[in-house]
Amino acid sequence: MVFDILPENPAHEADIEALHDLSFGPGRFAKTAYRMRESVAPIASLSFVAFATIDGVSRMVGSIRFSPLVIGGEKGLLLGPLAMDPVVRGQGGGLDLMRTALDAARAEGHRFVILVGDAPYYAKVGFKQVPPGKITLPGPVDKTRLLYCDLAPGAFDAVSGLVEKGL
Ligand SMILES: CC(C)(COP(=O)(O)OP(=O)(O)OC[C@H]1O[C@@H](n2cnc3c(N)ncnc32)[C@H](O)[C@@H]1OP(=O)(O)O)[C@@H](O)C(=O)NCCC(=O)NCCS
Repeated sequence: MVFDILPENPAHEADIEALHDLSFGPGRFAKTAYRMRESVAPIASLSFVAFATIDGVSRMVGSIRFSPLVIGGEKGLLLGPLAMDPVVRGQGGGLDLMRTALDAARAEGHRFVILVGDAPYYAKVGFKQVPPGKITLPGPVDKTRLLYCDLAPGAFDAVSGLVEKGL
C-alpha cells in the first residue's frame, strides 16, 4: 500500500482525535507519556499525517506528533502519539511516518528523541533501550520500553537526569 505523508493541518484535528480514541482508549490519559505531553503543544513542524486510498477514497489513516522536553538541561523530543488506523496496520505506514518525521527533526537540528513503546518495532528506525537509571520520568514506566534515538551522532551520551516538559 502507498502512503502519502503530509504535514498535519488544523483540518485533520477531528480525524486525529478519533484515531487516538480508537488506538489508545481512555486509559491513555493516565499514562506517564501522556502526562509529559499534557498542556504542551505538539511541535507543528514535526506533526505529520498519512493518507491512503481505500476503496477508491483517499482518507487520513495515520498520525505522528512530537513534544519538546528537557533532560538535565539538554533539549530533546518525545515521540508520540503515533497511531495508524487498524484497517491499514502492518503495511509500512507507521514506519513511513516515523522516517519522514525523524528526517524533519534532524533537519531542524534536534539532537535526540525518546519514547515509551515496543522496542522491536522502534528498533526498525534506530531506537535503542535507554540504559537503566540514566534518565527518570515523572511517573512509572516499564524500563524495557523506554527508548532513545540519536539524531546527531552520540548526542544522547551526554544526557542524564529528570525528564521535564520543554517549551
Ligand atoms: C504501532 C503502530 C503505529 C504501527 O504502525 P503500522 O503501520 O502497523 O506499522 P508498520 O506497518 O509500519 O510496521 C511494519 C513492521 O513493524 C512490525 N511491527 C509492527 N508493530 C510491531 C510491534 N508492536 N512490535 C514489533 N514489531 C512490530 C511489523 O511486523 C512489520 O515488520 P516487517 O516489516 O518485518 O514485516 C500501529 O500498530 C498502531 O497504531 N497501534 C496502536 C497504537 C500504538 O500502539 N501506537 C504506538 C504507541 S507506543
